[in-house]
Amino acid sequence: MGKGQLRLFLFLFMFCSFLFLVLSSSVSPRNFPIIPFDEGYTPLFGDHNLIIHSDAKTVHLSLDESSGSGFASHDLYLHGYFSASIKLPSDYTAGVVVAFYLSNGDMYEKNHDEIDFEFLGHIRGKDWKVQTNIYGNGSTNIGREERYNLWFDPSEDFHQYSILWTDSKIIFYVDDVPIREIKRTKSMGGDFPSKAMTLYSTIWDASNWATNGGKYKVNYKYAPYVAEFSDFVLHGCAVDPIDHVTNCDSVQSSETVPSDVTQLERIKMENFRLKHMTYSYCYDKIRYKVPLPECVIDLREAERLRKFDPVTFGNGHHRRGKRHHIKEEAASF
Ligand SMILES: *[C@@H]1O[C@H](CO)[C@@H](O)[C@H](O)[C@H]1NC(C)=O
Repeated sequence: MGKGQLRLFLFLFMFCSFLFLVLSSSVSPRNFPIIPFDEGYTPLFGDHNLIIHSDAKTVHLSLDESSGSGFASHDLYLHGYFSASIKLPSDYTAGVVVAFYLSNGDMYEKNHDEIDFEFLGHIRGKDWKVQTNIYGNGSTNIGREERYNLWFDPSEDFHQYSILWTDSKIIFYVDDVPIREIKRTKSMGGDFPSKAMTLYSTIWDASNWATNGGKYKVNYKYAPYVAEFSDFVLHGCAVDPIDHVTNCDSVQSSETVPSDVTQLERIKMENFRLKHMTYSYCYDKIRYKVPLPECVIDLREAERLRKFDPVTFGNGHHRRGKRHHIKEEAASF
């Protein structure tokens, strides 16, 4: 190797090392302890359709003609990192919704908060649809839904779905990819979830709205529909459910919850959104004549989304209000 080549080699080596350091400098939020089901959760409804594996770490939730099923965290949390590995029911699952979400709807009937991951059922040959959403302080008529397809078949294997919630932002993750970041803005006012919530996971029949707006119903010929859950992480600031006492948001707890996406993650997020997002409330003219204040309208994005969902750019109907009602009903079985 000549001197010039050596110098070039060294330069490239150092440049690559530098890039590596820059891109990997923040801690990934993945390194939290995984807890057994019983330690963090308790069955919520459809007990006969909830099966805890002998390893104590994996749980099956199923939906059949008699009932769906669900579980809830023992504790309420004000902020934290919440995660589960989920394997969805396979084949024809139209109308079957699996949800992994935070809510305090049982405590605040009129002004509840919510942060949602929802799998909207699937028809063979079509893409899987996932929806994320938040509600703050009871604004169920102000949804902030986004929908995406996935780059894998979520019924084939377990994948990690995570919600990071701090007092300044909410980040949704699929495996190692942050897919959505919601920054709290002044203009959102009370719409940013700000009261302690319980973590829930449920499977239920949402025939009338879930799959293509209710076009495809649950077919019980294929029941039971079984969703599997594992690798539970509940890393948050627990709040006493009785007297609501909390030490949350002390320096200590905000240190242990990483609250930023790294540069590499940001690149992944932007790529994901560019390729996989199919709907955003920011472009739904039926719902919001004027986009909500935090929306930054990008004309190219609008053009791209229009192809997936011309309805929201012209004519259509709402599907959101009813769904909430149903989820609450299911939870009170
Ligand atoms: C939430 O709603 C309640 C009742 O409607 C209201 O009194 C309170 O000010 C709201 N909180 C925020 C942060 O907007």
